[in-house]
Amino acid sequence: MAGELKFSEQFLWGTATSPTQVEGHVVNEWTDYVASDGGHCRVACNHYHRYEEDVQLMAGLGVNAYRMGIEWSRLQDKPFAPLNQTELQRYIHLLDLLKERNITPMVVLHHFSNPPWITKGGGWLNPTTIPAFVDYVTKLVSALKERVHIWNTFNEPDTYASLTYLLGGFPPFEKWKFMKYRRVIKHMAEAHVRVSEVIRQNKFSCAPEIGIAKNWTSFGAFQIYAFWDHLLAEASHHSFNRFVLKEFLGGNRRNASTFLGVNYYGRARLNHFRALVPTNNVSIEELKKFGIVADDMFERHPSGFGKLLKRFQREYNLPIYITEHGAASNDQDFRIRDLTAHLLELHAAVNHGVDVRGFFYWSLLDNFEWQFGYSKKFGLFSVDFNDEALPRKLTRVGEFYRSVCRGQTNSTNLSARDKISM
Ligand code: FCB
Repeated sequence: MAGELKFSEQFLWGTATSPTQVEGHVVNEWTDYVASDGGHCRVACNHYHRYEEDVQLMAGLGVNAYRMGIEWSRLQDKPFAPLNQTELQRYIHLLDLLKERNITPMVVLHHFSNPPWITKGGGWLNPTTIPAFVDYVTKLVSALKERVHIWNTFNEPDTYASLTYLLGGFPPFEKWKFMKYRRVIKHMAEAHVRVSEVIRQNKFSCAPEIGIAKNWTSFGAFQIYAFWDHLLAEASHHSFNRFVLKEFLGGNRRNASTFLGVNYYGRARLNHFRALVPTNNVSIEELKKFGIVADDMFERHPSGFGKLLKRFQREYNLPIYITEHGAASNDQDFRIRDLTAHLLELHAAVNHGVDVRGFFYWSLLDNFEWQFGYSKKFGLFSVDFNDEALPRKLTRVGEFYRSVCRGQTNSTNLSARDKISM
């Protein structure tokens, strides 16, 4: 496909962050955690003190949307407490600055972190977390309804539940506790349905939009005849994709959502039960020997993106936001090629009739990438974490994305696709 990347005028071109990864000064289960590179999130990008400057960076990029989290632990220090007004005012100020710049916020209510009192009580394994969350959201939405109408309840419940209780990557670092994994998903899905009712009870100036962000990894066997790898891939697909989608969107539950958020990074193929991805400690050099193209996290698979969007449209017929896509690499050309290839797939899917309403690049800034610390560079702006001043600098992929947001991409930029072997 040649030509311009033309999207509708209303299309949201945004970027995304999450509180624990950028704000700093949070007190949650990540505060004392030390990542594999020795990094911690105690200061992160210091977005907590520097959000004004970061909004200016966004305005310079030309984005018209921002997917941001609000950190529950800042707002309630015990169950059913009134919201902390100082912290609330800080978020309100941020939202007002966005409004001045015509940047529409999408607010994420849960992004891999909880207040300490929730963690102490057993986190999302404990059913009493559900009414506590509903209470928090009731108060928050009522405080922000004039400023926010797009609500993303849960970010990647599958990633959260699997890394906490199956794969040992997130606190409390448990492994292979399948019943716990299922329980967390079930509780989050119930909470999603309940808060969606609460959100709808408010009066908004535009109709509220409500949805989850589902991470989508497709699983497959690397070798065609590897029966056991196929079986494991199918089991992974069932647990991480089908089961989760059924809990959140199956039957009547679909009506709780007005959109489906999709976080798409790539795929994982298995070879003798080993996932061929950098996050599983397989080096990019080794992956090259298998003919696999990867960023510093996952195998890239842009054509799977287009197919997925068509499939979601068929299965759920809900408007879609691409709530996250990005690539982590120090190689800016690679990141530009990756983005181009995915935008072309997106464009083709939209032309095919898939109702995609926006795209949020992960991420505005290089940030604290959970168990990997600061080693994964996803930023449209780089951040120098060795310098106390944490200087932000526009990257080349940032420049490229700016031209996308300003509608200036043309066939020359897009020819990058020819060079991509994904
Ligand atoms: C997603 C998470 C986000 C970030 C990106 C790289 O799974 O939602 O916080 O870690 O991956």
